Amino acid sequence: MSVVKVGLLGLGVVGGGVWKVLQSNDSEIARRAGRRIEVTAVAVRDVDKARRLVGDRARIVQDGMEVVRDPDIDIVVELVGGDTLARQWVLEAIEQGKHVVTANKALLAKHGNEIFAAAHRKGVMVTYEAAVAGGIPIIKAIREGLTANRIQWLAGIINGTTNFILSEMRTRSLTFDAALADAQRLGYAEADPTFDIEGVDAAHKLTLLASLAFGIPVQFDKAHIEGISRLAQEDIGHAERLGYRIKLLGITKRGADGIELRVHPTLVPSQCLLANVEGAMNAVLVNGDVVGPTLYYGQGAGELPTASAVVADLVDVTRLAAAEPEHRVPYLAFQQDAMVDIPILPI
Ligand code: NAP
Ligand code: HSE
Repeated sequence: MSVVKVGLLGLGVVGGGVWKVLQSNDSEIARRAGRRIEVTAVAVRDVDKARRLVGDRARIVQDGMEVVRDPDIDIVVELVGGDTLARQWVLEAIEQGKHVVTANKALLAKHGNEIFAAAHRKGVMVTYEAAVAGGIPIIKAIREGLTANRIQWLAGIINGTTNFILSEMRTRSLTFDAALADAQRLGYAEADPTFDIEGVDAAHKLTLLASLAFGIPVQFDKAHIEGISRLAQEDIGHAERLGYRIKLLGITKRGADGIELRVHPTLVPSQCLLANVEGAMNAVLVNGDVVGPTLYYGQGAGELPTASAVVADLVDVTRLAAAEPEHRVPYLAFQQDAMVDIPILPI
């Protein structure tokens, strides 16, 4: 069986998970991909720490440019985070004609239009299933499962850290700070957790979902964003007594005048499905005009659930790499010349 060679940028919570899944499920993954998927190079800051996981099975370097310019590497997986080095490395990987898999919603929410346009010019794929809702295959569902529909709206819990904090505050009376510390320890939070608690991470993800659902460019700067940092234990208690749970929801809706794009704490009646999504679980409701409401539920953050989505992208990209660009679904999803110009409404 032939081998596809992968360069891994980052070996932290998600990168470490990807490494482990590729080792533990290698034969199933190879069967599904049609080729063996082998990580041949890894970029990290701390080489010694990476060596303890990888041993001598892959080259370990500190400069991601060495990985993306390695002519033997077919696919680059970006799991470093941030939008400076990650942007440079991803754009260079595309320039080198390599396919890219990323979990980096911050990067795509800010620079997605530039990155997808570059990928189109070079005829390579950029896939990002793990960037939204962790292990839930929500990108694939919208991109491939709902193509008969005009999507009218979608709404969901798309940040595991804040849902975990709100659950812990309600069910275990933990303080906000103690619950956030637990979310960080469990690997759910972003490197800068203000992205989680101020709703920015959820808005990054919502921007990507809206772009895919409505065929519009990525427009993070137009999202209305409110986080949970000003919520107190009393707010959660009052909501509970009135028959509601407070959830940080991302909501996007197509109306006659334009599209709403908003993230904010929301009172959800406690008998509703979304009210009962607890811990780091995520759930996304998508309403299409043909299918009606559909619900996607699963672990929204953390090592292995996120690795599951990254590796699924790797399998897809490996299988589709042999096809002509116009036959590859992920490549077709972001055709900028086919995008529609619908205004985002101010909230
Ligand atoms: P992380 O644990 O902080 O890992 C980041 C990795 O990148 C580490 O291996 C780090 O090296 C490496 N790195 C950082 N800066 C570097 C540099 N300048 N040069 C070389 N290597 C560098 O982060 P993570 O939680 O895995 O998240 C990675 C990405 O996945 C982010 O975009 C995040 O938003 C996204 N994501 C995370 C989750 C989750 O549940 N954690 C879920 C979905 C998506 P060292 O190991 O040497 O420090
Ligand atoms: N920090 C993110 C969250 C990671 O808590 O949802 C998953 O994208």
